[in-house]
Amino acid sequence: MPEKKKVGFASSFGFIMAAAGSAIGLGNLWGFPYKTAKGGGAAFVILYILSVLLLGAVTMLSEMHIGKRVHANPVTAYKSVSRKAGWFGLVAVLIPFFITCYYCVLGGWTVKYALNSFSGNSGIIASFSTNTGEVILYTAIFVALALAIIGAGVEGGIEKLSKILMPALFAILLGIVIYSLSLGEGVKEGITFYLKPDFSNISFSTVLLAMGQAFWSLSLGMGIMLTYGSYCGQDINLVRSTAMICIFDTLVALLAGLAIFPAVAHFDPALLDGSKGLALIYIILPQVFESMGAIGKIVSFFFFTMVTIAALTSIMSLYEVCTQFVLQKFHTHRKRSITIVSILCLIISIPVGISLGHVGILEESSPALFGLDWLTFFDEVTNTVLMPICALFACIGIGWILKPEVAIREMREEGTVISDTLARVYTIFVKYITPLLIIVIEIGGLKSEIQAGNIGVVVTAVVLMLICIAVYFRFYVNAYTGTNDDERLVKNEL
Ligand code: PHE
Repeated sequence: MPEKKKVGFASSFGFIMAAAGSAIGLGNLWGFPYKTAKGGGAAFVILYILSVLLLGAVTMLSEMHIGKRVHANPVTAYKSVSRKAGWFGLVAVLIPFFITCYYCVLGGWTVKYALNSFSGNSGIIASFSTNTGEVILYTAIFVALALAIIGAGVEGGIEKLSKILMPALFAILLGIVIYSLSLGEGVKEGITFYLKPDFSNISFSTVLLAMGQAFWSLSLGMGIMLTYGSYCGQDINLVRSTAMICIFDTLVALLAGLAIFPAVAHFDPALLDGSKGLALIYIILPQVFESMGAIGKIVSFFFFTMVTIAALTSIMSLYEVCTQFVLQKFHTHRKRSITIVSILCLIISIPVGISLGHVGILEESSPALFGLDWLTFFDEVTNTVLMPICALFACIGIGWILKPEVAIREMREEGTVISDTLARVYTIFVKYITPLLIIVIEIGGLKSEIQAGNIGVVVTAVVLMLICIAVYFRFYVNAYTGTNDDERLVKNEL
């Protein structure tokens, strides 16, 4: 019988680019720079790097291995760790679904800004973000791009495009950093604003901020690294890949700040202080590009193209988790699965887009959920409450249920090189330290939600989890929930 080709990544480089593509997103390009500038500069960077090492890398390796050992979607993968725990997989499929609903709106905004670079984006935010028709149009364009890529499959779509897009992103970023650092006047002030160490700024909440940022930036605590891990074959070394992804992700985040702040300080130092969150990239930077004169249009085009690429490779991974599950569980063709998932997300993204245009930036009252704009609401439900829970189970699953010795043996059998010393360190972390840190994040997050009066966020997250538990035990615990082989079978059925 001819050897059947497995569904998955064809090369280690392709896998690393795809996973780094997921990790490198809006969180790196504007989340990290402004949090660093506000959170104590280089002092925050140290905390961040520690979080990546102690928390991020360990969780990433664990999630990837849980996926790789069974080559299946998160529900099957978590179920294979413990029958009673398969519902974590359902939560892990639901989280990317909700994130997609707002991430695609921001992706749409970015596409608009890239295309509009030559007319100038300065001051367009108010009219653009409240023009619902236009927001939906650009969101749809962005989703269509993602759909076209994922529809072509893991190897033919995600891997192929990531191998082109990620080096392109890096090249654009380096180009902008060089330009920005060569501006002369203001560069020093910009770098000082960004990186000047301020240890007095470090408090427990900054530590939480750094850990949360690492989590988000590395795309952990949902099905992503599990799903991507499931597409890895024997030739992919998970330890090396984890190291490369973490380094690449952190490097891009650091460089993003060096691209942004020196240019802001050079062209419009008064704007430095307003540089936070969404405003940094959609309000402040367009003003800076305008002050650059003619070259500003070109820099703006490259900058927003780079952000679009980052958002696109991230949303691909979000969609892939949901698509993989729908495809495998319901035996629907890949293209049909992704269409179903994206139509649902697009419908939900409409109120998100409307709400964001009115509340997120312009601070007027408009559609809200429990007093928050839709983006913030989804973000808090997933990021603050649900993601740490899924990540915790990845660590507990390996540390206490599968046992680290078994997981390490399996990893070695499956082509991962892991030295004895590293194995010992990983064992201690995955059993004790990382779970403990994740519990700290979860409790810190819950506390801040309750203090802020966001009871609706906590209640929604709990209800979603209860629904996952109920659905899992009613329908999935004893049923077949699919593996990656199903994709080949579905293809052959057609
Ligand atoms: N890691 C991405 C970023 O830094 C965000 C993301 C989160 C992407 C979750 C996919 C999944 O922006």
